[in-house]
Amino acid sequence: MNEQPSNTTLDPNDRKNERFTSSGFILAAIGSAVGLGNMWKFPYITGKHGGAAFFLLFIVCLLLVGLPILLAEMTIGRGGRGNAATSFYKLTGKKYWGWLGLLSVVTAFLIMSYYAVVAGWTLHYTLESFTGALYHPGMDYKAEFLSFASGSMPLVWQAVVMIISGWVIAKGVSGGIEKFNKILIPGFLIILLILMARSLTLPGAGQGVEFFLKPDFSKLDAESALIALGHAFFSLSLGMGCMLTYGSYVNKQQSLGAATWAIGLGDMVYAFIAGLVIFPTVFSYGLEPGEGVGLAFMALPAAFSQMPFGSLFGGLFFLLLAIAALTSAVSILEVPVAYTMSKWEWSRKKAAVIVSIVCFLVGIPAALSVGGAFSSFHPGGKTVFDWVDFVTAYILMPFGGLIVTLFTGYAWKKAGEEAGLSGFWYGTWMFLLRYVAPILIILVFLYSVGIISLA
Ligand code: PFF
Repeated sequence: MNEQPSNTTLDPNDRKNERFTSSGFILAAIGSAVGLGNMWKFPYITGKHGGAAFFLLFIVCLLLVGLPILLAEMTIGRGGRGNAATSFYKLTGKKYWGWLGLLSVVTAFLIMSYYAVVAGWTLHYTLESFTGALYHPGMDYKAEFLSFASGSMPLVWQAVVMIISGWVIAKGVSGGIEKFNKILIPGFLIILLILMARSLTLPGAGQGVEFFLKPDFSKLDAESALIALGHAFFSLSLGMGCMLTYGSYVNKQQSLGAATWAIGLGDMVYAFIAGLVIFPTVFSYGLEPGEGVGLAFMALPAAFSQMPFGSLFGGLFFLLLAIAALTSAVSILEVPVAYTMSKWEWSRKKAAVIVSIVCFLVGIPAALSVGGAFSSFHPGGKTVFDWVDFVTAYILMPFGGLIVTLFTGYAWKKAGEEAGLSGFWYGTWMFLLRYVAPILIILVFLYSVGIISLA
């Protein structure tokens, strides 16, 4: 870290024109939180781990760990008015905090390299759905997906995602990121409601709702708790400097406490409605609700292919996924862009272009590892794609979250003042950050890397 505290006026994050409006910030943060995680991971793990019982557990995890860290990240960003690395340093003057923060910049960069690949798939499927090319009687959707993934099109779509995200970011915080979210999020909500109405009125929809929501407390165990916690983390975009960087563009007048509740609620409601779209659709056509890729790119297209006006509803569904993915991708890319702007004093445009290009190149092996040239390369039993996903989601993100809890709970004494909290709320926030969140994060981490087993 060679930035000095006296350099703050040079820090691009400090420029007055780099600010969100109040509603723009909330929308952008919701856009970041609501992503591919809500749409294909959350519904599935909920259905598998006890429906409504798991949903309650997820809410508990959000309250005990997710929201306190979310507030902490935004507070560090606004207090430090720097990027994910410099904010820590500026607030304490200690270099090692800057280095720890830098790790989250690396995490964001790595996540973006593979998130852009999946976002690219959603764009391809959107186009193929609306044009009807995806839907033919008797089509094998697994074979179809693998044939797409083994060609060169995933690279083209990955590049398109990088170009869109880079372009939005180059336009600036209010003129780019905020505008993009202000246009897309309302559209997202409308599409979500249309699809919910469609799926809930399909014959046999009740079975899907039952799979998703019927509470079964006997399925809850320690493992479900850890899964719920891990997902609370990913879902709120924590542990990789994203909410911190967005927080650095927030005005002092904004209530960060209120923003925390709004973002948490928005994320939860979207995840809930996503489940009401996905399961009734899959069950109504007697299909197996797979997980991740299997659910979104194999089971659901099979359902849409049999539905009246399937290419329209399928197209809307993939458009929904694409919007969710793009608004999250923009927030991830902003982390390394903000860092390079400050570190090398690059203009926003230059940083956006260079980081997007490098990120695209770094993501190529991941893009080609699902059926492409790298698909038979399995070091340690995982493809490159799975490795990047595993290392970022299970090791780097929890570690980044731990740094935030320890920094806010122990190292930075003025967090309460910056967050606008005192009395009961401050005491509760500190208690959660100092004791509850770190212990739970360490448990999740040890479990995910196989050091402890709870099965
Ligand atoms: N929250 C996003 C999702 O649920 O898909 C993923 C994500 C976005 C993770 C931004 C991390 C991040 F910084």
